[in-house]
Amino acid sequence: MLSDAIAHYQQRVNQHLASLLENLPVTDPALKAAMSHGVLLGGKRVRPFLVYAVGEMLGVAADKLDNCAAAIECIHAYSLIHDDLPAMDDDELRRGQPTVHIAFDEATAILAGDALQSLAFEILSSDSHFSATQQLAMVKSLALASGYHGMCGGQALDMAATDKQINLAQLTQLHRLKTGALIRCAVELAVIAAESNPLTHQRLGEYAEAIGLAFQVQDDILDLTSSTEELGKPQGSDTKSNKSTYPRLLGLDGAKSTAQQLLQDALSALDDLPYNNRIIAEFARYIIERRV
Ligand code: IPE
Ligand code: IPE
Ligand code: MG
Ligand code: MG
Ligand code: MG
Repeated sequence: MLSDAIAHYQQRVNQHLASLLENLPVTDPALKAAMSHGVLLGGKRVRPFLVYAVGEMLGVAADKLDNCAAAIECIHAYSLIHDDLPAMDDDELRRGQPTVHIAFDEATAILAGDALQSLAFEILSSDSHFSATQQLAMVKSLALASGYHGMCGGQALDMAATDKQINLAQLTQLHRLKTGALIRCAVELAVIAAESNPLTHQRLGEYAEAIGLAFQVQDDILDLTSSTEELGKPQGSDTKSNKSTYPRLLGLDGAKSTAQQLLQDALSALDDLPYNNRIIAEFARYIIERRV
């Protein structure tokens, strides 16, 4: 079942992340504690799931994928720590815990995010399971997805679109960058690990593109329809900050039908691939049906 696979990969990446963090020497104890707070406490582990599930589908053993899964989660955790800062979304709850700048302080939260980002590239570039060519391709993929061309670029568009009306094309671009890029990268890391052929790369890229956008559409929907208790982060944060979101632009029903369409796009991208895609097909449905 999908829920078993999700739990299994969560446990796997949690263990690996815990041991990577444990093995870091202590420079500043607060910095290390803040990094651990940001990356070890909770989280659905969606991006690691994709690394493992796509990688295993393509024939790569899970133990070869641990570092890729941990690296991308370090980037994601960094993005959340910075997203919650007062200068950005100014939120005080994340994964059911005080956000890092509340549990520690702002300077420590900024540095913990920075250090988690660097740690991701340290992990990928020291992964001896892969050839130097593969390592370089992975580092490049994660760099593109995280920075100007990806998450940071999207976060900048998000900040610029606050208190403003933007059109659907602009909102789609914003969501593709701030959230879609890292989700696409999770799938791409698995493809690089497997040295897949171009058709597989192309089709899985289309799958990832669709679920990456769908993931943020559903995140926007949950900001309206879920609860703080369920989400572990403040419900209504987008409304409070007057953010540009899918429900705001298209209405709740419009956002939900966009998510359904994206699910169909993701599933049809998998159609002509000769792999057992049951788990990742179910996962695409989970992305738009999740309540958390
Ligand atoms: C939240 O990401 C931020 C977005 C990119 C939408 P997740 O919903 O994956 O958060 P966690 O990791 O499960 O806490
Ligand atoms: C954040 O989007 C995306 C990131 C790149 C971190 P949101 O601001 O909607 O994420 P949440 O709702 O705070 O998790
Ligand atoms: Mg935000
Ligand atoms: Mg936020
Ligand atoms: Mg959100």
